[in-house]
Order: sequence, then structure tokens, then C-alpha cells
Amino acid sequence: MTENDFLPKPYTTTVENGAVSWQSPSNIALIKYWGKYGEQLPQNPSISFTLDACHTKTTLRFSKKNTPGSNYDFEVFFEGVKSESFAPKIEKFFNRVETYLPFLKHYRFEIHTENTFPHSSGIASSASGMSALALCLTEVAQMFTTEKLSSEMFLRKASFLARLGSGSACRSLEGPLVVWGAHPKISTASNLFGTVFPFEVHPVFQSYQDTILLVDKGEKQVSSTVGHNLMHNHPYAKQRFRQANDNMEKLIPILKSGDLNGFISIVENEALSLHAMMMTSMPYFILMKPNTLEIINRIWKFREQTGSKVCFTLDAGANVHVLYPISEKEQVDHFITNELQSFCQNGNYIIDHTGLGATRIEI
Ligand code: PMV
Repeated sequence: MTENDFLPKPYTTTVENGAVSWQSPSNIALIKYWGKYGEQLPQNPSISFTLDACHTKTTLRFSKKNTPGSNYDFEVFFEGVKSESFAPKIEKFFNRVETYLPFLKHYRFEIHTENTFPHSSGIASSASGMSALALCLTEVAQMFTTEKLSSEMFLRKASFLARLGSGSACRSLEGPLVVWGAHPKISTASNLFGTVFPFEVHPVFQSYQDTILLVDKGEKQVSSTVGHNLMHNHPYAKQRFRQANDNMEKLIPILKSGDLNGFISIVENEALSLHAMMMTSMPYFILMKPNTLEIINRIWKFREQTGSKVCFTLDAGANVHVLYPISEKEQVDHFITNELQSFCQNGNYIIDHTGLGATRIEI
């Protein structure tokens, strides 16, 4: 498929006003997307677990303007309160997707959005937020035509649009494992949108647990836009993109067989490689905090002492995602409360697990 496949046919129906609502989950990458080209296209393939408890609910209200203006007309309400801080990101998003959603300047929008996770938790809400908004807009677009998209094409279009809002958002529509970015061994994978991992997945990975330790709830030190751009002249970029491709190839049989040791080594290698890229860019950053390292060392020690299959991954920040099979839930819960919780800011953490993706909300 190409970008052109997402251009709409001429609209045949008019709608005065309406409202739609979607709920989208966050996701945590096992193989990391870090580095992009063109319009939000990834330099390497990535794969993520779709989460469940951490999600965004968005309701989009729209009403036809008397005359279409030259500007986008929208207001954002975050948790019931009008918010200006999201406006620049949404404006940029509308600009990028207008070719595919040519009704945007003909309507006024109210975007009502809320997260289940605390806004200042350091958990990126852009993936779940952009996914939910893209799903709402895709549903609105369907109202202007009698030719409805198949459910597969609907999700593809919404994922394609979500990607233009925030790259990793295109992996936040389906679950439990979503791939984004072309890979020679995954013929269904595309740089344009996320798709469900197409091969057999061992049951152990269908109910994986993710406890997110909130080490630092502050504003991100480096925005992901700045971070991705730092890969442009990065001395190790080429090698890193090759490594991600190799790791993806190795992960395919691991996900099938349920090889937890293989899983751990790839997932931790990816997390540390992501941070290594930031430490070796110009300018350079250390996004881990002393407590991040303390947690990593405790996880390694616990694994050595108990034979547990608990492991960690990191986003572009100091928080730690603790990943483990559901069979170890009780043991790892104890370990977290006894040994890791004290390294979290105000003792805060979020218990999550893999989920099946976005859902439409009846309003
Ligand atoms: O979607 P963005 O542009 O916020 O980038 C996300 C990058 C990572 O979260 C660090 C990795 C990933 O693949 O999700």
C-alpha cells in the first residue's frame, strides 16, 4: 500500500453535527523505534505490547461551520478543563492529515480527552491520545460517504493517521503485539501503519504483565521529536537500525516458542541500546536516574537468586517497565513492594498487562 490508498473518494453526504468516542491504550515497545525520515516514517521496524489499564478516552464533537475558514477551529478539554497546551500538537497533526481528511476546515471541533494514568506520571500519553483522536476522525470521515471501509481498512486508516500524530501511536489500536515498520521476514509489516504481529504467539506472551515504576514524573528532558532528530547525524545510527532488524528477526521464533530467556536478552538489549543512542548523540543525554539503575541492578540480582523471568524495558525517560509472565505475578508483586517501590517517586507505580487494543464507546 502507498499513501495514495488513504486519500478519500469525493464525499457524497453532508452531516451537520455529531459526536463519536473511542478509547485507546498506551503501548510499550519491545523493539524500539528511534529515528525517522520523511513524514513520520520509521528508520527501523518496532514491535510493542499493547497495554490495557493505561489508556485515553476521547470524545470528538463536531458541527458544520457556515463557511469553511482557512484555519482549523477546535478546542481541547483535558479532564473536563479547557486546555491550550495541546493546541500546537493538534494543529500540527491536522495540518499533516488534512489531505486525507479534507473536511477538517469545514467543521468546528471539541475534543474532550481523559487519561486513566496521571498526566504528570512521565508516561507518554501521545500514543494513546493520538490513536483515540485518529479513530474518532476516521469514524467521522465515514459519515461523509456511503462506501464504508472494511473493518480492516478502517483500522489501517486510523493507524496511518495516528502515525502522523505521533509515530508510536500507530501501534496503539490493536493487540496484544503490534509491528510497525517494514521487515524482510514480516511481509504484512508496513512503514505506513501498525499491524498485528502476524505469526504464532505463545500463550505466555498473550497475558504478559507490565508494572510501570514511576521513578521520575517530571517533564521529559528530551522530547521525542528532538530525540528522533538526533539520529540523523548519529555516528552509530546505521548500526542501530541494523541491530533492530536483527533483533526483530530473532524475536519471531522466541515469541512462538515462549523462550523467556531469549525474550529477556532482546528486550533488555533494546532498552539499553535506546539509551545508548541518547548517551552518544550530540548533544548527549542521560535519561536514566540513579534509581533507574538501582532498579535494574535489583532486577538482575533477583533473577539470579530466584530464577525468575522478570525483566525490564525503558522508554525515553527514567521510568522502568517491569515485564513478567502472569504465572509469576504474586512473586513479582512481592518483589516490587519489598524492594523496588522505595525507588519510585512517592512510591508510585502502575500495574498493567497486555490488552487487545482500542474500543469504540457508545455515546
Ligand atoms: O512516538 P514517539 O515519536 O513519541 O516515539 C516513541 C519512541 C519510544 O517510545 C522511545 C520507542 C517506541 O518505539 O515506542
